[in-house]
Amino acid sequence: MTATVKPILDLNAFRDDASAAPAGSLLARRRANFGAASVLFYSDPIEVVRGQGVWMEAADGRRYLDFYNNVPSVGHCHPRVVAAIAEQAATLNINTRYLNQRVESYLERLKATLPDEVSNAVLCCTGSEANDLALRVAAKASGGAGVVVTEAAYHGNTAAVTDISPSAWKLAGPVPAHVRIVPPPSAAAFGADIAQGFADAVAAAFADLQASGIRPSAFICDSIFSSDGVYADPPGFLAPAVAAARAAGALYIGDEVQPGFARTGDAMWGFARHGLVPDIVTMGKPMGNGFPMAALLTRPDLLALFCEDVGYFNTFGGNPVAAAAGLAVLEVIAEEGLQANALAIGGHLKARLAALAQRYPMVGAVRGAGLFIGIELVQPGDPATPDPAAATALIAGLHRRGVLIGAAGRYGNTLKVRPPLCLTRAEADLFADALAECLEELPTA
Ligand SMILES: Cc1ncc(COP(=O)(O)O)c(C=O)c1O
Repeated sequence: MTATVKPILDLNAFRDDASAAPAGSLLARRRANFGAASVLFYSDPIEVVRGQGVWMEAADGRRYLDFYNNVPSVGHCHPRVVAAIAEQAATLNINTRYLNQRVESYLERLKATLPDEVSNAVLCCTGSEANDLALRVAAKASGGAGVVVTEAAYHGNTAAVTDISPSAWKLAGPVPAHVRIVPPPSAAAFGADIAQGFADAVAAAFADLQASGIRPSAFICDSIFSSDGVYADPPGFLAPAVAAARAAGALYIGDEVQPGFARTGDAMWGFARHGLVPDIVTMGKPMGNGFPMAALLTRPDLLALFCEDVGYFNTFGGNPVAAAAGLAVLEVIAEEGLQANALAIGGHLKARLAALAQRYPMVGAVRGAGLFIGIELVQPGDPATPDPAAATALIAGLHRRGVLIGAAGRYGNTLKVRPPLCLTRAEADLFADALAECLEELPTA
């Protein structure tokens, strides 16, 4: 039996049915305002009114444990971040064409967490913008256009970035001519030697581009392979693939929008787990704990080359309020020991989930690092067959028990465990207990 490929925005999506919303309800107003572009979670969408730490509260007073969100990464509405934003917003907010102490202090603090090589930054507002620019920097440096990505990658929403985001494509049609797709770095695709198999696939993809007359430009990947279904181990497996990409003349763009900012527990950045230094690093989501900010960091020579041809200015990117938020996030991660917490609580949680995998045949695998874990659901008795229906049932069961979570993977059969980094052991246990109850409700054959 095969499962259907699912675009990322269809996972756990509310199916809009015009009859379901009484006139004047929030849902009806939403429909009138957002139209076809509305994307809501859950068959019974939630109106969320406030958040704190790992918890969100709905308009009906119900509290939810948030296991979905890696944006409010240091905790919803962290008072330190909120105060930093408020204080700077009340003082000055301006674009980057003026000197500003706070912006430089922020970048110096951020760069102290990164390899020395990537020492020039472009600040922008979304991960999509950062990846769009990364493609342009890579194209200029390589003189090529060919990009290799994984089969359920998501890198953002601009036209260029949608071209390299297979999980955003709804229609089965030709892959853009300059793009080649490789399977995620899984044992299912490559057997025991994931590092070699994945590197061979990347090398073959670039060779195929060259054979079609398209010069290699970039290998871009999210080093935790979040939308592919979370692939973290063994640390270091990514290095041969990056070497293969560089041997073909391509640059390595490390998309840290998902794994960055200490989430994987053993490192601040996902690429560091693989012993790599990217040519270009992009980041976003948790960077401002909800304040919209993103960045590209690269080598000065690469940025200089790009700037020979075009100027780049971003009106809101790098404004001092964003810098204040970003600085507060870095301070909170350091002072509250959130990287160590991600490692310790993530390790505890993974062990509890692995125990569930032993007990329930529909849990095919538990993968991940720190507080980024994937729980893969398969057909009981047929571990090679994905079971997206089980993932959907678990998401609904957890919702009923006050836990919010999403899915990932090409078939939407992997639960994506991604709570704020301040998660406590008791909250991790709450999740594992609720999941065990939901698994108990699933059919075993
Ligand atoms: C790996 C990755 N890169 C880039 C992006 C795009 O970021 P944004 O939504 O801020 O444009 C996302 C968003 O989900 C992502 O998961």
